[in-house]
Amino acid sequence: MKRVGILTSGGDCQGLNSAIRGIAKALYEHYGDKVEIYGIIDGYRGLINEEYRLMKPEDFSGILTRGGTILGTSRQPFKLMRVVDEETSVDKVDKMKKTYKKMKLDCLVILGGNGTHKTANLLSEEGLNVVTMPKTIDNDIWGTDMTFGFLSAVDIATNVIDCIHTTATSHGRVFIVECMGHKAGWLTLYAGIAGGADVILIPEIPYNIDKVIDCIKARTKSGKTFSILAVAEGAVSDEIAKLPKKKKKEAIANLMYPSVSYKIAHEIEEATGQETRVTVPGHFQRGGSPNAYDRFITTRFGAAAAGLIIDGKYGYMTGLVDGKIVPVPLKEVAGKLKGVPVDSEIIESAKQIGISFGD
Ligand code: F6P
Repeated sequence: MKRVGILTSGGDCQGLNSAIRGIAKALYEHYGDKVEIYGIIDGYRGLINEEYRLMKPEDFSGILTRGGTILGTSRQPFKLMRVVDEETSVDKVDKMKKTYKKMKLDCLVILGGNGTHKTANLLSEEGLNVVTMPKTIDNDIWGTDMTFGFLSAVDIATNVIDCIHTTATSHGRVFIVECMGHKAGWLTLYAGIAGGADVILIPEIPYNIDKVIDCIKARTKSGKTFSILAVAEGAVSDEIAKLPKKKKKEAIANLMYPSVSYKIAHEIEEATGQETRVTVPGHFQRGGSPNAYDRFITTRFGAAAAGLIIDGKYGYMTGLVDGKIVPVPLKEVAGKLKGVPVDSEIIESAKQIGISFGD
């Protein structure tokens, strides 16, 4: 009997269930009734606390289009993984290894983002058989051209910008749409371009507020009555970006506004006199059904992950590279962040059509 555990960890996104379905179907197809799949509840927390259940084939039916994760998820910060809990004396890594052994698992399938991959690599180094799949709306996992969940979130954020367009036009206002992404600007970049934003501000390119204001003034001068900015929640001004790391963290933490977008809105309003509003779609961007692409790619990721298990090839993430699904060693993935390259051709073409990045 083959015994496979599956868990989803970190922030959820669209496509988790379709990925779970993909791997389960491929495993049942190959092993028939010679495989047992265990769903571990709420990510690593379930592995630490021995919370899991034996799944049945019917558990994986009807979930292709369902958002969220049928297994539940939680955030278990990597930096605390090795820290023994003072009150309970729980050694999390030790507990996870014990649960894995107790469950008599042959392998563990982990669906997650950057932090999740660090822990997945740690578990792999500790001797567990691990296979992972790259999920996050942030698209910032190293080793894959795209993560699942990303394009569904792009669709939602683009729709928000589309809707904002009509009201911005009617009122002749400046609007800021704040997209998720603290460290990486992929979502803002894609949705900003797809939604026709005039200004796109992302963490990788520190903005100069005067340049942003100049862009809006130039639009007004040319007869445009409204402007739309797509701003990543992690966008930083050039003034803050040049501070030493600790001071930079402090400056961001001590921002006098709910988020950077509100600060930018205030500065624009002061400088231009134009009414400026902020819209924050927030977790909307992670919700609802996966789009067609995410259903498609997660089914392929799932089949590829099952293939790795069948071949006994552990310690890998299924990555999408040049259109093909390939195994990427976990030790290469863990601890790296795939931000938007500042010399990216995407940024170049956006600038060619007049989009300002505030630089
Ligand atoms: O999972 C990624 C992400 O959605 C980021 O884009 C966002 O900054 C963060 O999670 C939000 O985290 P939480 O859901 O814990 O508020």
